[in-house]
Amino acid sequence: MLLEIDDIHVHYGKIAALKGISVSVDQGEIVTLIGANGAGKTTTLKTISGLRNLSSGAVRFDGKDISRMPGHKRVLAGIGQAPEGRGIFPGMTVEENLLMGAYARKDSAAKELAEAYELFPRLAERRSQAGGTMSGGEQQMLAIGRALMAKPKVLLLDEPSMGLAPMLVQQIFSIIVEINRRGTTVLLVEQNAQQALQIAHRAYVLETGRVVKAAPAGELLDDPQVRAAYLGGASGDDLTGASDVQSVDAAGTSGTAEAADDSEEGTSR
Ligand SMILES: Nc1ncnc2c1ncn2[C@@H]1O[C@H](COP(=O)(O)OP(=O)(O)O)[C@@H](O)[C@H]1O
Ligand SMILES: [Mg+2]
Repeated sequence: MLLEIDDIHVHYGKIAALKGISVSVDQGEIVTLIGANGAGKTTTLKTISGLRNLSSGAVRFDGKDISRMPGHKRVLAGIGQAPEGRGIFPGMTVEENLLMGAYARKDSAAKELAEAYELFPRLAERRSQAGGTMSGGEQQMLAIGRALMAKPKVLLLDEPSMGLAPMLVQQIFSIIVEINRRGTTVLLVEQNAQQALQIAHRAYVLETGRVVKAAPAGELLDDPQVRAAYLGGASGDDLTGASDVQSVDAAGTSGTAEAADDSEEGTSR
């Protein structure tokens, strides 16, 4: 396993946010955590990236126990995060924001910058524009691009589709598939469960600080309880517009950057 969290308990003061969560992510996978507001998804990602402390349990990465490793060292070890709410630097240009993602590296970031611009042509067009003046979707792309600049082995994404128009949501999901196809393991937190389950290999359902289900993502798409609670209760066919992202087989063959670029042509400018 590339990443393993083992029975972690995390508190905010006296309040237990995570009550024994275990999740594992294998090299090359897209794993998604779904669940309602307050279930503990963000806290789980923050604990992996070192922004929250464990009360008990362990986080293991690449075979090492990193439970006590400071966050900046986890970035160097290969854990990249695009945080909830994006967290870009509004007064810095797009390019400066991207370069911030590589600040801890000693070698040149030119190759990663070129790759980020290839993955997100919109960012290349706007490289000199202030981050804070970008649209919501563009800021999300910037946050993901910045996280990729550190060449992470695993990319943690916290609700990347939040607040985006449907076409942009689809584009972000296509880009996640492409990032994975290029070799980055992804742990994806989403409230948009339908689309998350369509691109993920495996999924965990969180409820009030616990894992209540873990299964291949395709199985959860067909699970009546999951459908009722997280997918609007509808059966596959009548989900209007929500299922534009094609499902991806284990080799991750669909959802290319080209497809993402094409769909971008249709967005408002
Ligand atoms: N900064 C905080 N202070 C106190 N409680 C928090 C804080 N952040 C989150 N919580 C609580 O922890 C639980 C899990 O929250 P969170 O991980 O943000 O859930 P999710 O991302 O699934 O919506 C919730 O009960 C939430 O109210
Ligand atoms: Mg959250």
